[in-house]
Amino acid sequence: MRVVKQIPEMQTLSKEFRNSGKTIGLVPTMGYLHEGHMSLMRNLRDQCQVRVVSIFVNPTQFGPNEDLAKYPRDFDRDKQLCREEKVDVIFYPSSQKMYPPHYHTYIQVENLSEVMCGRSRPGHFRGVATVVAKLFNIINPHIAIFGEKDYQQVVVIRQMVNDLNFEVQILTSPIVRETDGLAMSSRNKYLTAAERKFAPVLYQSLLEAEKMCQRGIQNPAEIVEKMTALLNKIPQSRIDYISLVRPETLTPVEKIQGQVLVALAVYLGSTRLIDNIIIKGLLK
Ligand code: PAJ
Repeated sequence: MRVVKQIPEMQTLSKEFRNSGKTIGLVPTMGYLHEGHMSLMRNLRDQCQVRVVSIFVNPTQFGPNEDLAKYPRDFDRDKQLCREEKVDVIFYPSSQKMYPPHYHTYIQVENLSEVMCGRSRPGHFRGVATVVAKLFNIINPHIAIFGEKDYQQVVVIRQMVNDLNFEVQILTSPIVRETDGLAMSSRNKYLTAAERKFAPVLYQSLLEAEKMCQRGIQNPAEIVEKMTALLNKIPQSRIDYISLVRPETLTPVEKIQGQVLVALAVYLGSTRLIDNIIIKGLLK
């Protein structure tokens, strides 16, 4: 396994892979790897000949009052996990190399970036789209894989890939959960023992939404009301949003029919957690 820190070295290496006819697959991450990340690597295994994992805590996707400074990092552990998974290359650039002084170019995927998570995290998806575009240009992968845990991120990236004609195939991978249902996340580390105990309520509220749809309930407001009641039982919590939207466009649904993305963000103390589920309304 090779660890590449320099951008030109990564570009040369990718050219060599391509020239020898190898299909390159990319797993973009911010490190502090967990089973969610590992499942992306595994699901990419049969799709390509070379797997590149990027590890970069991207400063441009964090707001001024967010957790950039305290975001968990453990490169030695990440390296070991990638080695065990037989990853071919870790791309591990510095912030100074990715964003040198006088860096000025950003990608704004309009509309999709302003709803849901974008509302409480202005500039977040601008940072995500920018860094992913940079990673695509540096690594030039044939395929890249993203987790459905960050569903809006996938929608934003697909839009960018279409709009800017990137020749990268985007794959997605299902949400990996702890045994009690909590979606795995590097940020779960921030939870106190008491918060961790209540954290599975997020997924329970999504399952409740699914059950209500299966019972034939078609009014999204009724579902939001029930989920709100469940989530408000968590002490020290604050609901950021609960959205029922079309999975492709993120536009709100007026009636539960066909596929619906139910997505939420909730603060447990100062930690903001997200989760989602795709449900299928009864067709009427
Ligand atoms: P990060 O939060 O490290 O996540 C990297 C990838 O792992 C993303 O595609 C994310 O959706 C996926 N992932 C995280 N938790 C998961 C889980 N429980 N189940 C399945 N997949 C999961 O997302 C980012 O980094 C950044 O925004 C990035 C795309 C790297 C750009 O900086």
